[in-house]
Amino acid sequence: MHLISLKDWSPADIIDAVEESIDIKNYPDKYQSAMNGLSLSLLFQKTSTRTRCAGEVGMNQLGGHAIYLDWRATNFMLADLRDEIRVLSSYVDLIMVRFLKHADVLRSADVASVPIINGCCDRYHPTQALADLMTIQEKLGKVEGVKLTYVGVHNNVCNSLIAAGMKVGMEVTVVAPETNPTAIDEDFLEEARQSGMYKVTDRLKDAIAGSDVVYTDTWMDMEFFLDPTLKAEKEKRSKLMEPYQLNKALLEGEDVLIMHCLPAHRGSEISGDIIEDERSIMFEQAENRLHSMKGLMLKLLNK
Ligand code: CP
Ligand code: NVA
Repeated sequence: MHLISLKDWSPADIIDAVEESIDIKNYPDKYQSAMNGLSLSLLFQKTSTRTRCAGEVGMNQLGGHAIYLDWRATNFMLADLRDEIRVLSSYVDLIMVRFLKHADVLRSADVASVPIINGCCDRYHPTQALADLMTIQEKLGKVEGVKLTYVGVHNNVCNSLIAAGMKVGMEVTVVAPETNPTAIDEDFLEEARQSGMYKVTDRLKDAIAGSDVVYTDTWMDMEFFLDPTLKAEKEKRSKLMEPYQLNKALLEGEDVLIMHCLPAHRGSEISGDIIEDERSIMFEQAENRLHSMKGLMLKLLNK
Protein backbone atom coordinates (compact mmCIF):
# COMPACT_ATOMS: atom_id res chain seq x y z
CA MET A 1 0.00 0.00 0.00
CA HIS A 2 1.30 3.45 -0.96
CA LEU A 3 0.02 6.96 -0.27
CA ILE A 4 0.12 8.74 -3.62
CA SER A 5 -3.22 10.49 -3.21
CA LEU A 6 -6.15 9.95 -0.87
CA LYS A 7 -8.27 9.35 -3.97
CA ASP A 8 -6.69 5.87 -4.05
CA TRP A 9 -7.59 5.05 -0.42
CA SER A 10 -10.86 3.68 0.91
CA PRO A 11 -12.94 5.81 3.32
CA ALA A 12 -12.33 3.19 6.02
CA ASP A 13 -8.55 3.42 5.63
CA ILE A 14 -8.66 7.20 5.85
CA ILE A 15 -10.89 7.24 8.94
CA ASP A 16 -8.73 4.55 10.52
CA ALA A 17 -5.55 6.59 9.93
CA VAL A 18 -7.18 9.71 11.39
CA GLU A 19 -8.41 7.88 14.51
CA GLU A 20 -5.05 6.18 15.01
CA SER A 21 -3.29 9.56 14.72
CA ILE A 22 -5.50 11.04 17.44
CA ASP A 23 -4.72 8.05 19.67
CA ILE A 24 -0.98 8.49 19.02
CA LYS A 25 -1.25 12.15 19.96
CA ASN A 26 -3.08 11.32 23.20
CA TYR A 27 -1.04 8.26 24.19
CA PRO A 28 2.41 8.63 22.55
CA ASP A 29 4.11 6.25 25.00
CA LYS A 30 2.06 3.33 23.70
CA TYR A 31 3.80 3.67 20.36
CA GLN A 32 7.38 4.44 21.30
CA SER A 33 8.83 1.10 20.18
CA ALA A 34 6.45 0.44 17.29
CA MET A 35 9.09 1.10 14.63
CA ASN A 36 12.08 -0.54 16.35
CA GLY A 37 14.65 -1.52 13.74
CA LEU A 38 12.75 0.14 10.87
CA SER A 39 13.90 2.97 8.63
CA LEU A 40 12.32 5.74 6.61
CA SER A 41 14.11 7.66 3.91
CA LEU A 42 12.94 11.10 2.87
CA LEU A 43 14.00 11.93 -0.68
CA PHE A 44 13.27 15.60 -1.37
CA GLN A 45 13.65 17.71 -4.51
CA LYS A 46 11.93 20.66 -2.83
CA THR A 47 12.29 22.51 0.44
CA SER A 48 10.31 21.59 3.57
CA THR A 49 9.92 22.38 7.25
CA ARG A 50 6.83 20.47 8.42
CA THR A 51 6.82 17.39 6.21
CA ARG A 52 10.50 16.68 6.69
CA CYS A 53 10.44 17.22 10.46
CA ALA A 54 7.20 15.26 10.89
CA GLY A 55 8.82 12.33 9.08
CA GLU A 56 12.18 12.48 10.82
CA VAL A 57 10.95 13.27 14.32
CA GLY A 58 7.95 10.98 13.96
CA MET A 59 10.11 8.02 13.00
CA ASN A 60 12.50 8.78 15.85
CA GLN A 61 9.65 8.97 18.40
CA LEU A 62 8.38 5.58 17.19
CA GLY A 63 11.77 4.00 17.83
CA GLY A 64 12.83 3.89 14.18
CA HIS A 65 15.44 5.69 12.10
CA ALA A 66 15.08 8.35 9.41
CA ILE A 67 17.49 9.31 6.63
CA TYR A 68 17.01 12.64 4.88
CA LEU A 69 18.23 12.65 1.28
CA ASP A 70 18.47 15.98 -0.48
CA TRP A 71 18.02 14.92 -4.12
CA ARG A 72 20.93 17.12 -5.20
CA ALA A 73 23.33 15.30 -2.90
CA THR A 74 22.49 11.83 -4.22
CA ASN A 75 23.10 9.84 -7.38
CA PHE A 76 19.42 10.17 -8.24
CA MET A 77 20.85 13.27 -9.95
CA LEU A 78 22.60 11.23 -12.60
CA ALA A 79 20.89 7.85 -12.77
CA ASP A 80 17.55 6.37 -13.75
CA LEU A 81 14.93 7.15 -11.11
CA ARG A 82 13.61 3.60 -11.16
CA ASP A 83 17.03 1.99 -10.62
CA GLU A 84 17.77 4.20 -7.66
CA ILE A 85 14.33 3.69 -6.07
CA ARG A 86 14.80 -0.09 -6.37
CA VAL A 87 18.11 0.22 -4.53
CA LEU A 88 16.68 2.51 -1.85
CA SER A 89 13.79 0.04 -1.36
CA SER A 90 16.30 -2.62 -0.46
CA TYR A 91 17.71 -0.50 2.38
CA VAL A 92 14.68 1.08 4.04
CA ASP A 93 11.12 0.15 4.98
CA LEU A 94 9.36 3.32 3.85
CA ILE A 95 10.22 6.01 1.31
CA MET A 96 8.76 9.50 1.38
CA VAL A 97 9.32 11.53 -1.77
CA ARG A 98 8.81 15.23 -2.33
CA PHE A 99 9.08 15.52 -6.10
CA LEU A 100 8.40 18.31 -8.54
CA LYS A 101 6.40 16.06 -10.87
CA HIS A 102 3.51 13.76 -10.03
CA ALA A 103 4.62 11.39 -12.82
CA ASP A 104 7.86 10.71 -10.93
CA VAL A 105 5.92 9.79 -7.78
CA LEU A 106 3.98 7.26 -9.86
CA ARG A 107 7.15 5.91 -11.48
CA SER A 108 8.67 5.43 -8.03
CA ALA A 109 5.61 3.58 -6.75
CA ASP A 110 5.74 1.31 -9.79
CA VAL A 111 9.11 -0.14 -8.88
CA ALA A 112 9.37 0.32 -5.10
CA SER A 113 9.18 -2.80 -2.98
CA VAL A 114 8.25 -0.71 0.09
CA PRO A 115 5.45 1.84 0.59
CA ILE A 116 5.93 5.20 -1.11
CA ILE A 117 4.54 8.30 0.60
CA ASN A 118 3.90 11.32 -1.60
CA GLY A 119 5.28 14.14 0.53
CA CYS A 120 3.89 16.83 -1.86
CA CYS A 121 4.18 16.93 -5.65
CA ASP A 122 2.70 19.43 -8.10
CA ARG A 123 -0.67 17.65 -8.00
CA TYR A 124 -1.34 16.30 -4.50
CA HIS A 125 -0.30 16.75 -0.87
CA PRO A 126 -1.97 13.82 0.87
CA THR A 127 0.00 13.85 4.13
CA GLN A 128 -1.23 17.41 4.61
CA ALA A 129 -4.82 16.33 4.00
CA LEU A 130 -4.55 13.59 6.64
CA ALA A 131 -3.40 16.14 9.20
CA ASP A 132 -6.20 18.46 8.09
CA LEU A 133 -8.84 15.77 8.58
CA MET A 134 -7.37 14.94 11.98
CA THR A 135 -7.52 18.59 13.02
CA ILE A 136 -11.11 18.99 11.82
CA GLN A 137 -12.11 15.76 13.61
CA GLU A 138 -10.57 17.06 16.85
CA LYS A 139 -12.14 20.50 16.55
CA LEU A 140 -15.61 19.63 15.26
CA GLY A 141 -15.92 16.03 16.44
CA LYS A 142 -16.57 14.83 12.89
CA VAL A 143 -15.41 15.09 9.29
CA GLU A 144 -18.50 13.76 7.56
CA GLY A 145 -20.97 16.54 6.88
CA VAL A 146 -18.41 19.28 7.48
CA LYS A 147 -18.46 22.13 4.94
CA LEU A 148 -15.03 23.45 3.98
CA THR A 149 -14.38 26.32 1.59
CA TYR A 150 -10.97 26.54 -0.06
CA VAL A 151 -10.12 30.08 -1.19
CA GLY A 152 -7.04 30.62 -3.34
CA VAL A 153 -5.25 29.09 -6.30
CA HIS A 154 -6.45 25.62 -7.28
CA ASN A 155 -3.30 23.63 -6.44
CA ASN A 156 -1.97 20.43 -4.87
CA VAL A 157 -3.39 21.21 -1.41
CA CYS A 158 -6.77 22.06 -2.91
CA ASN A 159 -6.81 18.72 -4.77
CA SER A 160 -5.94 16.81 -1.64
CA LEU A 161 -8.77 18.44 0.28
CA ILE A 162 -11.13 17.54 -2.58
CA ALA A 163 -9.88 13.94 -2.57
CA ALA A 164 -10.25 13.72 1.21
CA GLY A 165 -13.71 15.30 1.10
CA MET A 166 -15.01 12.99 -1.56
CA LYS A 167 -13.92 9.96 0.49
CA VAL A 168 -15.15 10.97 3.93
CA GLY A 169 -18.24 12.99 2.99
CA MET A 170 -16.83 16.45 3.68
CA GLU A 171 -18.18 19.04 1.27
CA VAL A 172 -15.35 21.04 -0.32
CA THR A 173 -16.30 24.25 -2.12
CA VAL A 174 -13.53 25.84 -4.15
CA VAL A 175 -13.28 29.57 -4.86
CA ALA A 176 -10.24 29.75 -7.14
CA PRO A 177 -9.93 32.34 -9.87
CA GLU A 178 -6.50 30.90 -10.76
CA THR A 179 -5.24 27.38 -11.28
CA ASN A 180 -1.82 25.73 -11.32
CA PRO A 181 -1.92 24.03 -14.73
CA THR A 182 -0.03 20.88 -13.69
CA ALA A 183 -2.32 20.39 -10.70
CA ILE A 184 -5.28 19.62 -12.89
CA ASP A 185 -6.46 16.07 -13.53
CA GLU A 186 -9.87 16.36 -15.21
CA ASP A 187 -10.84 12.72 -14.60
CA PHE A 188 -10.24 13.09 -10.89
CA LEU A 189 -12.15 16.37 -10.69
CA GLU A 190 -15.06 14.87 -12.64
CA GLU A 191 -15.19 11.94 -10.24
CA ALA A 192 -15.13 14.39 -7.33
CA ARG A 193 -17.94 16.44 -8.91
CA GLN A 194 -20.04 13.33 -9.31
CA SER A 195 -19.55 12.43 -5.67
CA GLY A 196 -21.42 15.64 -4.82
CA MET A 197 -18.68 16.61 -2.36
CA TYR A 198 -16.82 19.03 -4.66
CA LYS A 199 -18.31 22.30 -5.78
CA VAL A 200 -16.91 25.36 -7.52
CA THR A 201 -18.26 28.88 -7.07
CA ASP A 202 -17.23 32.50 -7.55
CA ARG A 203 -19.55 33.71 -4.78
CA LEU A 204 -16.88 34.14 -2.14
CA LYS A 205 -18.96 35.73 0.64
CA ASP A 206 -21.82 33.23 0.26
CA ALA A 207 -19.42 30.29 0.29
CA ILE A 208 -17.75 31.51 3.47
CA ALA A 209 -21.08 32.20 5.16
CA GLY A 210 -22.16 28.59 4.63
CA SER A 211 -18.91 27.06 5.86
CA ASP A 212 -17.56 25.42 8.99
CA VAL A 213 -13.96 25.80 7.80
CA VAL A 214 -12.23 28.30 5.51
CA TYR A 215 -8.86 27.20 4.12
CA THR A 216 -6.22 28.96 2.06
CA ASP A 217 -2.73 28.30 0.70
CA THR A 218 0.05 30.11 -1.14
CA TRP A 219 -0.64 31.75 -4.50
CA MET A 220 2.67 30.37 -5.87
CA ASP A 221 3.99 26.90 -5.02
CA MET A 222 7.31 26.71 -3.22
CA GLU A 223 9.42 25.74 -6.22
CA PHE A 224 8.35 28.93 -8.02
CA PHE A 225 8.03 31.34 -5.10
CA LEU A 226 11.55 32.77 -5.20
CA ASP A 227 12.20 32.24 -8.92
CA PRO A 228 13.26 35.63 -10.35
CA THR A 229 12.11 34.63 -13.86
CA LEU A 230 8.54 34.32 -12.53
CA LYS A 231 8.41 37.79 -10.98
CA ALA A 232 5.86 39.02 -13.52
CA GLU A 233 3.62 35.96 -13.00
CA LYS A 234 3.83 36.47 -9.24
CA GLU A 235 2.80 40.11 -9.60
CA LYS A 236 -0.04 39.19 -11.95
CA ARG A 237 -1.33 36.62 -9.49
CA SER A 238 -1.02 38.97 -6.54
CA LYS A 239 -3.21 41.50 -8.32
CA LEU A 240 -5.78 38.95 -9.42
CA MET A 241 -5.91 37.22 -6.03
CA GLU A 242 -5.93 40.31 -3.80
CA PRO A 243 -9.73 40.31 -3.30
CA TYR A 244 -9.46 36.69 -2.13
CA GLN A 245 -7.06 37.36 0.72
CA LEU A 246 -8.31 35.94 4.03
CA ASN A 247 -8.44 39.05 6.22
CA LYS A 248 -10.48 40.68 8.98
CA ALA A 249 -12.89 42.40 6.62
CA LEU A 250 -13.69 39.26 4.64
CA LEU A 251 -14.12 37.07 7.73
CA GLU A 252 -15.80 39.58 10.01
CA GLY A 253 -18.60 37.97 12.01
CA GLU A 254 -18.14 34.57 10.36
CA ASP A 255 -18.34 31.59 12.69
CA VAL A 256 -15.66 29.52 10.94
CA LEU A 257 -12.40 27.76 11.68
CA ILE A 258 -9.51 29.12 9.63
CA MET A 259 -6.89 26.76 8.24
CA HIS A 260 -3.69 27.09 6.22
CA CYS A 261 -1.20 24.30 5.50
CA LEU A 262 1.70 26.73 6.08
CA PRO A 263 4.15 28.18 5.18
CA ALA A 264 1.97 31.30 5.10
CA HIS A 265 2.82 34.48 3.25
CA ARG A 266 1.55 37.19 5.56
CA GLY A 267 -0.02 39.99 3.56
CA SER A 268 -0.58 37.82 0.47
CA GLU A 269 -3.10 34.97 0.73
CA ILE A 270 -3.71 35.75 4.41
CA SER A 271 -3.27 38.75 6.69
CA GLY A 272 -1.15 38.48 9.82
CA ASP A 273 -4.07 39.27 12.12
CA ILE A 274 -6.08 36.38 10.73
CA ILE A 275 -3.20 33.98 11.39
CA GLU A 276 -3.36 35.16 15.02
CA ASP A 277 -7.19 35.27 15.12
CA GLU A 278 -8.94 33.13 17.74
CA ARG A 279 -10.69 31.23 14.92
CA SER A 280 -7.33 30.25 13.39
CA ILE A 281 -6.29 26.65 14.09
CA MET A 282 -3.26 26.58 11.81
CA PHE A 283 -0.61 25.99 14.46
CA GLU A 284 -2.50 22.99 15.87
CA GLN A 285 -2.95 21.87 12.28
CA ALA A 286 0.83 22.13 11.80
CA GLU A 287 1.52 20.23 15.03
CA ASN A 288 -0.83 17.51 13.84
CA ARG A 289 1.46 16.91 10.86
CA LEU A 290 3.71 15.07 13.35
CA HIS A 291 1.01 12.91 14.92
CA SER A 292 -0.67 12.12 11.61
CA MET A 293 2.65 11.26 9.98
CA LYS A 294 3.20 8.70 12.71
CA GLY A 295 -0.30 7.31 12.18
CA LEU A 296 0.30 7.11 8.44
CA MET A 297 3.64 5.33 8.74
CA LEU A 298 2.24 2.78 11.19
CA LYS A 299 -0.71 2.14 8.91
CA LEU A 300 1.47 1.63 5.84
CA LEU A 301 3.57 -0.91 7.74
CA ASN A 302 0.53 -2.60 9.32
CA LYS A 303 1.75 -1.80 12.82
N1 CP B 1 2.65 22.15 4.92
C1 CP B 1 3.84 21.64 4.50
O1 CP B 1 3.92 20.65 3.78
O2 CP B 1 4.92 22.32 4.95
P1 CP B 1 6.41 22.10 4.47
O3 CP B 1 6.47 22.48 3.01
O4 CP B 1 7.23 22.98 5.34
O5 CP B 1 6.77 20.64 4.61
N1 NVA C 1 0.89 24.51 -2.40
C1 NVA C 1 2.06 24.60 -1.58
C2 NVA C 1 1.96 23.68 -0.42
C3 NVA C 1 3.08 23.82 0.55
C4 NVA C 1 2.99 22.90 1.69
C5 NVA C 1 3.29 24.27 -2.38
O1 NVA C 1 3.29 23.30 -3.13
O2 NVA C 1 4.27 25.00 -2.22
